[in-house]
Amino acid sequence: MRCLALACALLLGCPKAAPPTKPVKTAQMAELGKLMKDQINPAFSKLSFLVFHGEDMVEDPAALKIELQSLAAGLRKSIGRLLVWKHPPTESNEGRDVFFTYASSIDKMTGQLESAIAGDDVQSAARTLEQIAKTCNNCHHFFRLEIKDSVVGPNVISQLP
Ligand code: HEC
Repeated sequence: MRCLALACALLLGCPKAAPPTKPVKTAQMAELGKLMKDQINPAFSKLSFLVFHGEDMVEDPAALKIELQSLAAGLRKSIGRLLVWKHPPTESNEGRDVFFTYASSIDKMTGQLESAIAGDDVQSAARTLEQIAKTCNNCHHFFRLEIKDSVVGPNVISQLP
């Protein structure tokens, strides 16, 4: 049953997989919000900008690569904190499973992003960023969050090739 709920939640739009209550704002939630706002979101935002427009903005490809590598490594490190987060914003086991499933899939994708950047594969980096953006959105959606100031919105997705 748990597996089913999880598979369902990952496919989205399955009402049964939604957590029973809206997450309560707690100090731990605020800490998670801070990680998102101060680290994950800015790193993701800069990466998206540079992957899609970097070639026009930065003259030196080697400098661009170094910047991309450092941003991706920073993003991966912050995502790593999600993998061991002690207080996912849910009381239920299913909710926890969903949280950590999203966290580990976004971690893998960020690893793929690092490889794409290392291999100078801009197309693959762009595709991976799109998958990452979807996963950010899916996790927020599952926890019924409306992230207004997030860069992960239709504006980012629609810029993708
Ligand atoms: C595993 C689930 C999960 C993933 C994956 C995730 N988030 Fe979040 N995010 C949350 C939760 C939970 C909150 C709400 C925290 C709060 O209410 O304080 C949040 C809040 C945010 C906020 C609002 C922060 C604030 O307090 O203003 C932003 C911005 C954000 N996330 C960006 C991102 C981006 C960008 C990604 C992908 C690179 C991402 N998130 C991936 C769970 C996730």
